[in-house]
Amino acid sequence: MKVAIASDHGGINIREEIRSLLEELNIPYEDFGCDCETSVDYPDYALPVAQKVASGEFDRGILICGTGIGMSISANKVKGIRCALVHDVFSAKMTRAHNDSNVLAMGERVIGPGLAREIAQTWLQSDYEGGRHAKRLKKLTEIEESGQ
Ligand code: RB5
Repeated sequence: MKVAIASDHGGINIREEIRSLLEELNIPYEDFGCDCETSVDYPDYALPVAQKVASGEFDRGILICGTGIGMSISANKVKGIRCALVHDVFSAKMTRAHNDSNVLAMGERVIGPGLAREIAQTWLQSDYEGGRHAKRLKKLTEIEESGQ
């Protein structure tokens, strides 16, 4: 598994925590910034990660901003992305099992680094269940393809 990560200025500390988690788990990753603490625009950092996951260059993406909301909205604009905004461990597991989410978004002004680490680890290590969920994902793809 290869993971692409990024944050805006509001998510730098959790991004650092996620880097250390990925290193500990021996999961290859690439960090797409941001590289400074001055104010940046979250779509500029969500887009490259989402595109690289959608293209298959990376298997999963992790995005952090102040609330996680801007990052999740941005990532979900990219065709093929199912980005879940998660702030608890139960949802981290369930969004893999039921939604096959391929991008995880979190907010650094919402949760601390310890919980973010637990969420990311659970999300990375949980599998999609398929079965009855597959027809729902197919409907999501149909919405995307219809251009609505
Ligand atoms: C930046 O101030 C903030 O708006 C951003 O990090 C994020 O919370 C947006 O959803």
